[in-house]
This record gives sequence, C-alpha cells and structure tokens, in this order.
Amino acid sequence: MRLSAILFLSTALGALAIPASPTTEVRDGQTGTVMVLPPQATETGLKQIPDAAHPFIAPGPNDQRGPCPAMNTLSNHGYLPRNGIATFEEIVIAMMEAFNIELNFGALMVANNMLTRGNVFTNQLSIGGVSPLVPPYPGEIDGPETGGIAKHGRFEGDASMTRADAFIGDNRNFQDILYDKDLLQLGKFGDNGPDGNSTVFNLATMIGIKNQNIQMDQAANPMFEFAARRMNAAYLQAALTLTVFANGTTQQATLPIVGSFFRNQTFPENWHRAAAPVTAAANAVIENALLAAIPLKPGRNNAQGVFVADPPPPPPFNVTFACEAYYDQAANVPGTLVNTTGVLKQNVDFLTGIQFQLASNSPGCNQQILPFGPAGV
Ligand code: HEM
Ligand SMILES: *[C@@H]1O[C@H](CO)[C@@H](O)[C@H](O)[C@H]1NC(C)=O
Ligand SMILES: *[C@@H]1O[C@H](CO)[C@@H](O)[C@H](O)[C@H]1NC(C)=O
Ligand SMILES: *[C@@H]1O[C@H](CO)[C@@H](O)[C@H](O)[C@H]1NC(C)=O
Ligand SMILES: *[C@@H]1O[C@H](CO)[C@@H](O)[C@H](O)[C@H]1NC(C)=O
Ligand SMILES: *[C@@H]1O[C@H](CO)[C@@H](O)[C@H](O)[C@H]1NC(C)=O
Repeated sequence: MRLSAILFLSTALGALAIPASPTTEVRDGQTGTVMVLPPQATETGLKQIPDAAHPFIAPGPNDQRGPCPAMNTLSNHGYLPRNGIATFEEIVIAMMEAFNIELNFGALMVANNMLTRGNVFTNQLSIGGVSPLVPPYPGEIDGPETGGIAKHGRFEGDASMTRADAFIGDNRNFQDILYDKDLLQLGKFGDNGPDGNSTVFNLATMIGIKNQNIQMDQAANPMFEFAARRMNAAYLQAALTLTVFANGTTQQATLPIVGSFFRNQTFPENWHRAAAPVTAAANAVIENALLAAIPLKPGRNNAQGVFVADPPPPPPFNVTFACEAYYDQAANVPGTLVNTTGVLKQNVDFLTGIQFQLASNSPGCNQQILPFGPAGV
C-alpha cells in the first residue's frame, strides 16, 4: 500500500519535472522526426546474404539509385526501401544486417551523407538524385531542393572508380569504360584465385586504381577537386571494396564478386557478409596504406590546370589527415543548419556529434567544429 503510493508519487513528480521532449514536430507542412541511434546488432557472425525475404528486383523508373554500389544493392534487394528514400535508422540497420558494418562506423557514413544531401528535419535521404518525396528544408534554409547523394560537391566528388567526374560526364551511374580501366590494374596487380590468375582485388590493385583515377581526372577535368574530405572518402571507398565486398568465408574480393556489386548492383550468388563487424579502425588500416602509397596532398586544379595543394586547416585540425578531412567536411555542410531550433536542431546536434566522436579517435583532434559551409550549393 505504502510502497505503491510512493511509486505513484515519484512517477507523477518525474512526469512533472522532466516533460518528455516531443519526438515529432510539424513545420511548413513537413513532419520532423527525432533520429535515434539504433542498438548494435547482437548477431554479428558469418551469414549468407541475401535471405529469402530479400530477392533482387530491378528498380522502377521512379526509384532513386546513385553513385554508391552498396546503397544501390541494398535497395535492389529491399534491405532499404526500394524507392531509394531512406531514414538514418533504416540505412544503419540495413548496413549492419547485410554488410556487417559496425554501428558507429555505419552511423558516421550516414551522418556525412544526411548532413550534406538529406533533409535532416524529416529524416530522409535519397540514395540518388532530387526526389519529390524529399522536400526542401522548412524555410528553404538550404535552397529550394534537397539534392540526394548523387549531387556533386559536398560529398560526391572526383576521381571515382566507376563514375565520371561531374564536370566531365555522368557522375551517378556505373560507367563501363572506367571499370574496364580499373580491371587493367587488376590484371597487373591482382592475386591469383579460384576464378583464375590475377582475379582477386588486393591493396596493390586499389593503389593502382586510385593512382589511375586521379591522374586521368586531374588531366581531363579543369575543375578537378581532390580536397581532404574527398580524398578521405575516395580512399575509404576503395578500402570498403576489399573489407566489405569480399566473400566473408574466403575474405576474397574476386572479379565476379566485385563485378556483381559494381556492375549489376546485386549480391553475388552464394555470397557471405564479413565474419565479424567491419569497424572504422579495420577499414582505416587499408585507407592509411593508400594514403602512404599515393604521394598526393589534398588540393585542386588552378585556372591553368595545375594541381595545387590546399592550405592546411587551422590548428588543431592540422594535427592528422583524418582531422583535416573532418574540418573540410564541416566546411561543406551548410552553416544554416546550426542556427535552428527544435527537432531539426536536435538532429543536427546528433549527427555532428557522431562526426566528432569518430574524428576524436584521431590523436589531437580534440575540438568540435560545427558546420560552416555555404547553403544552397
Ligand atoms: C556498406 C557500406 C558501404 C560500402 C561498402 C560502400 C561502397 C562504396 C564504394 C565502393 C564506392 C565507390 C564508387 C566509385 O568510386 O566508383 C562508394 C561511393 C559512394 N558511396 Fe558508398 N559505401 C557504403 C556506405 C555508404 C553510405 C551509408 C552512403 C550514404 C548514405 C554512401 C554514399 C556514397 C556516395 C555518395 C558515393 C559516391 C562518391 C563519389 O564517387 O564521389 N555510401 N561507396
Ligand atoms: C597462374 O599462376 C601460376 C603461378 O604463378 C602459374 O604456375 C600458372 O601457370 C598460371 N596459370 C595460368 C592459367 O596462367
Ligand atoms: C550480371 O547480371 C547478368 C544478367 O542477370 C548476368 O548474366 C551476369 O553474369 C551478371 N554479372 C555479374 C558480374 O554478376
Ligand atoms: C564464398 O566462399 C564459399 C566458401 O569457399 C564458397 O562456397 C562460395 O561460393 C563463395 N562465394 C562467392 C560469391 O564467391
Ligand atoms: C599546425 O599549425 C600550427 C600553426 O600554423 C603550427 O604551429 C603546427 O606546427 C601545425 N601542426 C602540424 C602537425 O603541422
Ligand atoms: C539565424 O536564424 C534567424 C531566424 O531564421 C535569422 O534571423 C538570423 O539571421 C540567423 N543568423 C545567422 C547567423 O544565420
């Protein structure tokens, strides 16, 4: 009797003292939704992907697809909504389930893309281009439309393995000719494997591919830009090809496997996800090897077509390359997102917090920098 009375009292007081903050909010006719970090999946072993519930279905004409072979594959199999519009949580969960990407690493990849090209208020990201399903921000604080990850500049950039530079051609869809050139590097540097000699992608192949991508595009693209955020993403994506696309049972990223992801955007037959969660640290081992092997400082072409290194960022962001990339990414997220309130502000704080948490793993990278980039670009 007494106990239940005390319980009742404390519950009532608790409710009075800490009013639950709303998880949704309506502004300009849009419903904003608070983002939540899902829990790390508990089942993280080897597993054949896809399961029976996730067959390949080719995208329809209104379904969004874009420059990321992994996101396209997830949507083609229904691990992400087949229309190519997904929330922060949906993408993080799909990456854990189908690719065994460790929670925090996955959250960072989504945070970068949400902040640059999503609607952080409605919690929507197009894995392709502009979609009528994703409205511009309330008050159009980042211009009249929300880009989608295919939009060039803030995240999508130059020297990709299978997409052209935006200034030169199609930066969104798979390009046969570019992939064929990548395969020349596989022929030179690849390991021998079950599908024949020189058919297994390895570090030397990725070094050859990235060197070739950079040299070709630097010469062909007067607007060539390879700033710290893009260098970081480009080498990270090259590393992901080895760490994530590899068959989890053999740890080999073979010619038919990589072809299936890049060309067909489908899981290879009899493919297994990684046998343990793929962490940022594991991926960084390969990324750092690429950084060490490719003697290039972040920079861009000048008006004469000469590649010029960017000035270093202010301290402490010049302490490591990873910290420089973190700073450069903040310089390319609209500063208007910081000057907000309510659910939008809460989501911006959440995503920028994820960015800083990962960046601060880099020794000396101990200062948070909030977005300060231009809006509407
Ligand atoms: C399972 C985790 C992921 C893997 C294995 C992966 C793999 C890749 C690879 C291999 C590329 C390079 C394509 C090329 O250079 O031709 C790429 C590019 C890209 N990815 Fe992903 N990705 C992952 C997660 C994500 C996420 C979560 C997003 C956004 C929600 C994303 C957005 C992009 C974008 C925008 C590009 C284009 C970059 C450019 O070429 O400029 N990726 N990804
Ligand atoms: C593959 O490489 C091995 C070892 O280098 C060599 O002995 C073999 O003849 C090669 N096979 C083919 C089909 O070229
Ligand atoms: C891509 O799909 C086509 C048609 O289903 C198939 O014939 C081909 O073998 C696939 N290629 C790869 C690399 O998976
Ligand atoms: C992955 O490895 C297993 C075990 O060697 C093999 O049975 C399977 O065919 C491989 N899958 C692919 C796509 O290479
Ligand atoms: C960072 O910049 C400061 C100020 O220019 C300089 O004193 C410091 O040596 C730089 N640090 C690194 C690691 O380059
Ligand atoms: C912040 O937002 C308010 C209201 O939209 C606006 O009046 C003000 O100019 C903004 N300040 C900055 C620094 O952008």
